Amino acid sequence: MLKQKITIVGGGNIGISIAEGLIKSKAIKASQLIVTKRSSKASKELSQLKIQVTNNNIEGVKNADIIVLAVQPKQLIPVLDEIKPVLSDKKRIVVSVVSGVSTNEIQKVIGQNIALFRAMPNTAISIQDSMTCIAKKVGTKADEKVVFDLFDNLGEVAAIEEELMASATVLAACGIAFAMRFMRAASQGGIEIGFDAEIAQQIAAQTLRGATSLLLSSGKHPESEIDKVTTPQGCTIAGLNEMEHQGFSSALIKGLITSHKKINGIAG
Ligand SMILES: NC(=O)c1ccc[n+]([C@@H]2O[C@H](COP(=O)([O-])OP(=O)(O)OC[C@H]3O[C@@H](n4cnc5c(N)ncnc54)[C@H](OP(=O)(O)O)[C@@H]3O)[C@@H](O)[C@H]2O)c1
Repeated sequence: MLKQKITIVGGGNIGISIAEGLIKSKAIKASQLIVTKRSSKASKELSQLKIQVTNNNIEGVKNADIIVLAVQPKQLIPVLDEIKPVLSDKKRIVVSVVSGVSTNEIQKVIGQNIALFRAMPNTAISIQDSMTCIAKKVGTKADEKVVFDLFDNLGEVAAIEEELMASATVLAACGIAFAMRFMRAASQGGIEIGFDAEIAQQIAAQTLRGATSLLLSSGKHPESEIDKVTTPQGCTIAGLNEMEHQGFSSALIKGLITSHKKINGIAG
């Protein structure tokens, strides 16, 4: 169990997911967590978990040991300006999960002395199954341990350079949507070949989980698992090659690159 008090500034999609993950994993108690929002009305998820919600950012962060910034990119600088007066009155760690705002931009407001990290989780953090990439800007080894322990409770973590944060956003955070679209298409195909919607989705989802578990447990290349399934002249290779003729891998790679250009502000 973590000892620190945590305040999440921004109780939207990802802020709620982090809060849910922290409470459901028993990493912290509800009394150690505050979520701030523009409106003081708690979402269903936050009120069910008895998490304190406030629209007063200063009150929300003043006793926090760890401040997780989870507002939209355009909302971040005004929020930092608002909380800056109370930031340096005790030792704190600031973790930004905001995409597209660098630690240099954050430091222009809060200065260079406060422990500062960027993290890029995904919404599976609500069920402690996130892939979270973390980059340190300022912090001691002890701060680093606190931040890694925090996200370690909520899934897998990887230390990356901040330069790769946009790539982490695309592969891990946008990646949830890409995987969901794969799931939807697989379920729709399953319906066309005879299953009703519910069982089609169950079969497709568990098959995807099995495939990812095979890779995660063995560390092997995907193609080595494909080789085991593709009998010569069989139905798997026939379907797989047809998907490739239709641009399956190419569409996915181009989509990732387009998202990456978009996040970097390059017209794509
Ligand atoms: N969604 C993801 O999968 C994901 C994953 C990783 C990182 N991120 C990043 O996380 C950030 C938030 O994304 P999101 O999808 O969670 O956005 P969102 O759903 O729009 O949530 C933003 C939250 O910030 C609150 N907020 C806005 N201005 C505020 C202020 N001045 N003080 C306090 N709270 C304020 C909003 O309050 P109200 O609810 O009252 O309007 C809302 O709860 C983005 O930068 C995104 O790139 C998202």
